[in-house]
Amino acid sequence: MNSIEQRLLQHLEKRKTQGNLRTLRLATATTDFYSNDYLGLASNPTLQKIIQESYENLPNRMNGATGSRLLSGNTDFVMQLEKELAVWLQGEAALLFNSGYVANTALLATIPQKGDTIIADALIHASLHEGCKLSYANSWTFRHNDLEDLEKKLKLAKGEKFVVVESVYSMDGDKGALTAISQLCEQYEAHLIIDEAHSTGIYGKNGNGLTNELGLQTKTFARVYTFGKAMGCHGACIVGSQTLIDYLVNFAKAFIYTTAQPIHNLLTIAESYRYITQNPDLNQDLQAKILFYQQTAKKYLATTPHTLFINESPIQIIQIAGNENCKTVANKLINNNLEVRAILSPTVPAGAERLRICLHNYNTAEEIETLLRVALMG
Ligand SMILES: Cc1ncc(COP(=O)(O)O)c(C=O)c1O
Repeated sequence: MNSIEQRLLQHLEKRKTQGNLRTLRLATATTDFYSNDYLGLASNPTLQKIIQESYENLPNRMNGATGSRLLSGNTDFVMQLEKELAVWLQGEAALLFNSGYVANTALLATIPQKGDTIIADALIHASLHEGCKLSYANSWTFRHNDLEDLEKKLKLAKGEKFVVVESVYSMDGDKGALTAISQLCEQYEAHLIIDEAHSTGIYGKNGNGLTNELGLQTKTFARVYTFGKAMGCHGACIVGSQTLIDYLVNFAKAFIYTTAQPIHNLLTIAESYRYITQNPDLNQDLQAKILFYQQTAKKYLATTPHTLFINESPIQIIQIAGNENCKTVANKLINNNLEVRAILSPTVPAGAERLRICLHNYNTAEEIETLLRVALMG
């Protein structure tokens, strides 16, 4: 075996010994407590019919976009969709990206320059960390949601300052302290960037996100909305000033040098967001399930050996220290036909391994009760 294969194998072996080797596998249980499809839109038959009919009515049906947005991949459809998204998300302009991961890396790799400072919450998504790495700016983290630590770093920061947070943290399910953080940004003239991935579709008027719900839209420099979670489809957009969007069109390599999204995907985004705005009951049902989970989980607080983070969002956390312990409980749930996934170290710090429970409008009260009983009482 040559040396590169050997190196790869050594790293994989190390993961295996640590109990955190990732493998691609199919779900065996049928009750979904693990997908980000919070509103059930990915397989909603009414929405599927709407999308199919809209597609059939298109004058130009194409399988692919045939080029990047700056070449043959631009259409009136995509430009209209961006205008519509900007109105819904309450920004001056919006620019579509092929995924949230791409949007986040593009934004941070492109905007902050050498001599600037990015100060990011320690728990931001991997794509934002990757964006920080790609940037020539100095990049620091502050302790999760810790205003004192953020302020300390804002005082030391040089150049243009960028503060990067999420509205709902993907691995912890708690909300960012957006109002207080935006006040600090104003005080220290820092530019606030908010990743709205897990709040798109479930907070704000017609699902336009937590920043809008809190009335902070004019306090942000850029917001990233992703469509692969509650919207049940794929893609993302960055919302901000027209100047920011024009700059990204000119300088963001991940926008310029990639094939644009195919029309079917764009149409799915358009119909999904319209469907959310026209069907507020989807979110009301989700909120009722979150409340039911919270109330039921609280009954176990005194007796369970595990640590519960009971959140307002659809992402609920049951912390079970140790990769093997955590996997054992996950398997127990799967054997009860409840699909959950264990989040192991090093994705989270050792000792903070957890089950990340995703609640949906379609989970029944009985399923939630069984989940909590099996996970918390064994
Ligand atoms: C907070 C956060 N931001 C960005 C992303 C990336 O979005 P996408 O799945 O559209 O690439 C994710 C997805 O896991 C996420 O949780």
